[in-house]
Formats: sequence, C-alpha cells, structure tokens
Amino acid sequence: MAAIHKSLPRRQFDVVVVGAGGAGMRCSLQLARAGLSVAVLSKVFPTRSHTVAAQGGVSASLGNMSEDHWQWHMYDTVKGSDWLGDQDAIEFMCREAPNAVYELEHFGMPFDRNANGTIYQRPFGGHTANFGEKPVQRACAAADRTGHAMLHTLYQQNVASRTNFFVEWMALDLLRNEAGDVLGVTALEMETGEIFVLEAKRTVLATGGAGRIWGASTNAFINTGDGLGMAARAGLALEDMEFWQFHPTGVAGAGVLITEGVRGEGGILLNKDGERFMERYAPNLKDLAPRDFVSRSMDQEIKEGRGCGDGSYVVLKLDHLGEDVIKKRLPSIREISIKFANVDPIKDPIPVVPTIHYQMGGIPTNYYGQVVDYKNGETKVVNGLYAVGECAATSVHGANRLGTNSLLDLIVFGRAAGNHIVDSHPEKEHSHQDIPESAIDYSVARVEHLESRTSGEKAQDVAGKMRTIMQAHCGVFRTMDLLKEGERLIEEMVPEVNDIYFKDKSKVFNTARIEALEVSNMIEVARATTRSAANRTESRGAHALNDFPERDDENWLRHTLWYADGSRLDYKPVQMKPLTAETIPPKPRTF
Ligand code: FUM
Repeated sequence: MAAIHKSLPRRQFDVVVVGAGGAGMRCSLQLARAGLSVAVLSKVFPTRSHTVAAQGGVSASLGNMSEDHWQWHMYDTVKGSDWLGDQDAIEFMCREAPNAVYELEHFGMPFDRNANGTIYQRPFGGHTANFGEKPVQRACAAADRTGHAMLHTLYQQNVASRTNFFVEWMALDLLRNEAGDVLGVTALEMETGEIFVLEAKRTVLATGGAGRIWGASTNAFINTGDGLGMAARAGLALEDMEFWQFHPTGVAGAGVLITEGVRGEGGILLNKDGERFMERYAPNLKDLAPRDFVSRSMDQEIKEGRGCGDGSYVVLKLDHLGEDVIKKRLPSIREISIKFANVDPIKDPIPVVPTIHYQMGGIPTNYYGQVVDYKNGETKVVNGLYAVGECAATSVHGANRLGTNSLLDLIVFGRAAGNHIVDSHPEKEHSHQDIPESAIDYSVARVEHLESRTSGEKAQDVAGKMRTIMQAHCGVFRTMDLLKEGERLIEEMVPEVNDIYFKDKSKVFNTARIEALEVSNMIEVARATTRSAANRTESRGAHALNDFPERDDENWLRHTLWYADGSRLDYKPVQMKPLTAETIPPKPRTF
C-alpha cells in the first residue's frame, strides 16, 4: 500500500491517555503533577464522561458507620466475582481503597457527611462484615450523584495541574512497531474531521465500557468499546468478555439506572403479590445480595408470572423511607422516576427490570495497569501500553462486580498506572521511536474505505441489528443453543459493518462518520462476547446457563482470552495467590 499518511499532522507527548472518565483523569492527574506532558483525548467534554452517571457510591472499608476491614472487603469481592477475580489485584484494590478515597476527600470531593464530620457510607449489594455474616455500610456516597462529584473533582484538579485536554477527539487505532511496542495512536479531531498522529512514549486506554452493544442499557451513548476495538484490531486479547452485568434496577422501558443505593437505604423489591421475594432467594442478604443474584431472581419472578402491571417488571418500593430521606439521600432517583417512569417514589413504587450495566472483562492488565499478553504459558507486558477502568480486565471483578467497586477500580488503578508510568521516567527517554508507515496507513485506509462507500446500510441500522441479536441471545439467563446462534449471527454481520455507508461526506462535525467508526469498535466487542460465552460450559457469576447450571471449578476456573483474528480463543489461569493475605478458596456462593 502506498504511504498515504505522509502529510498527517503530528503531535508528541510523554503520555497519551484515551478517555477522560474517572480512570483516565485519575491517571492523567498523577502524570501532570509529576511534570510529564500529557494529552487526554475525549469524545465528549470530560465532565460528560460516563463516570458522571455513577450514583450510589465508592467502596472503601473506612469503618465510619461500624467496624470494617480491607480483608472483609477483599473476601466480598472474591466471592462476588464467583472466584474468577485475580486475588493479587483484589488485595491491592481493597487495601488501597481507604487512601484512594481520603485522597479524593482532600481534593475537595463533596461527600455526604455524618454528624461527626466523617464520610457517610451506605450499605450496598454483597458488602458484608466478618466474611459474609451481615451487611456492612461501606459505600462512600455523595447523595446519589457520587460519580458526578468524583468526575468534577478530578477535572478541576487536572485543570489546576495543566493537563492538556483534547475535547471531542476520537482515537482510531493503536500504533505498534515490529516488536509489538505501542508508540501512540491515530485520532480524529471531530471539529475538522482531520486525522492526527499522536506520538507517545506511553499510551493509556481509559475508554470505559461498551454497554451500547445491547439495546437496553444504563450506559451512555458514548460507551461503544472504542479501546477494546483498538486493542482487538492491534492483535491483543480481550479477556473474560462473556461476563456482563445486568443491574437489577433499570427503569422498565427506559433502562435508566436506579441506584442500588435505594436498596442500601432500605428500599425493597416486590412482585405482583406484594411479596418481598428476595427473602426467598437470599435469606441472609435479601435485596442486598450481589447483582447477578438479584437480577436472576427478578427474571425468575417475571418468567413465573409474578411480574407487575403487564407482567414484564417488578417494583421497587421506597415510600416507607420517608420524604426527608428520599429528598436528602436520593434526590436524583426521585427526579429520574418522575421523568422516566411517571411515578413519584415518595408515594408510589418504581417499575424496574434488570438492564445491562457493566462489562467485567476487557483488555488484560496487571495491577499496575500494564497491558499483558499471554503466550505459551507466559505472561508478557506489552511495552508502552496501559489500560485502566472499565475497558481493562485487571481482573478484580471476575465473573461479577460488586456495586461501588467500579468507582474504586477507576481511582485505584488510574492512580497505580500513573505512578508506574512516572516511575519509569518517560521524560528521560530522548526521543519518540519511529512509527512504521504501515501502521498509520492501516488506520487512514480504514477511514478512507468508509468514506469511499457509495451504498450500504446506515450505521444506526447496523448497530440496531447488532443490539437486537445481543438482546435476544445474551440475556440474564442463557442457553448454549441461543449463544451459538448469537455467535453465528454476529459473525455474519462483520462484512455489513465494514461496508457501512454514510451519505454526508463533509468533514466538519460529521457524526455519521463517528457513528460508523463506533460500530466498527462495537462489533469486535460483540464478537468477543458471543464467542467467549458460547464456549464456557458452566454457570459462573453473570454467565448463567440453563443447560449448565453449576459452576465447574475443575474445568473453568480460568480466564478466557479472545483474539479478533479468526475469533480465536485461549485460556489462562486465575491468580489465586494474593499479595500478603491467605488465598480465599472457592466455595458454594450463597447469600
Ligand atoms: O447502583 C449503583 O449506584 C451503581 C453503582 C455501581 O455500578 O457500582
């Protein structure tokens, strides 16, 4: 192929961070404060990143409400993950949690307060005291807008530290050399439609999740798995992509998130008979069992004819909490319920259904955020590349994430990756390495191919079709036949995605071009998800199969690795050895 990129504008940085959510901005803050030159790319204004939608809290064993310990938090996280989480990374996260939260407090994050001035903490699903004995209040909350408060705090700190923000820029592809080292990215400036080469000594992917591959999702429209698509196209693995979390309480018909914090504050789920059905499924933790458990129980109630209204949802009752608590602790929930469900929860219950919320899998990393590859039984670092936040599989969430461990993951591993990069002193490396022309050509050709199309399907139609398949074949309960069929249908869509057509070829703020590029990322996520799921013949965490209802530790206590090339699968062991604590051995998961 002729070198078509020669005239592309170039910029050089010590570090390019792709994504300005909580993980990206916690990382960039560490880098900018250390004096490195940092570029943070974001498709949207940073404070509109999806972290802003996180509601209920950030977990840390501060013990402000009653006794708590990081070892209890670690136990809950391992059990919540259905033993697929790596115990070294989980120990790292739970130990670091209190420091990471106090740091946010000192940055000015406006947490709710107890009467004695300490940070208010609420109960959340699967958070327990004394290794599963009883619920504990571990979620540090800023009303029901914790992500909003966190994101604004981090943005302000970054501005004060002179981080360079590239707002409304979309990263296109990773640039790797022959040795596989990552040397930066190609990126599209949306305002001009111009493609740039951003050379970086270190590149950090912090692109968040990909929940938009489903039709019903709590995710923002920007959550299209861009980092995952970039990694997959660059030949890197995606890990454990069969594990997707359904949040139990999305507003029925709208999908908008109703925080688990509602149940933390005392809200309860009822079926059409007015029965608090979670008492049957989880006699100890009840409505505060982990999400995979609660979502399946709700689905079961609906399937067995105990749904409310037209039978398609259950309700979340919170009027008994009283107007004052609802207005003080759950103001956004009231607003969302009024706007999207037409009910005021001070008086009436909210209709809810399980809704896609979070991807547990992602780009494999160690607990410094370095992206790793696994070949012939050996784990090797991919030089120059890091991944943090929801796009990464570190893997602390395993087969099911505990509520509020996501915000924690962002700040702990965003910070850890930042520190690791600072310690490796990119600023002392004399120059940027040469980028192979073929890497840049590949990326430019991808965009030019789309632009050259004169017919084909529209991006939104192709995306709609993909979402319908995912919704029908990869639900709360799965069967092997459905998954295999889903895998086939998604694979059949690849040529359609490659040949998406948009009529408007203008450069300036051409959202049709952006959507087409987003679909090219989403299809890789959908392929990884269906292929990985259709091969795991057990039920574990969020991957619940009717035809394989049991967890099978003998054969499946291992991580899935999916490669785009040939949709190849590989597997690697789970890290069962923590850093200093004792291994938490697998046992039946009851609540
Ligand atoms: O329910 C919630 O507030 C969501 C929290 C989370 O996903 O961690």
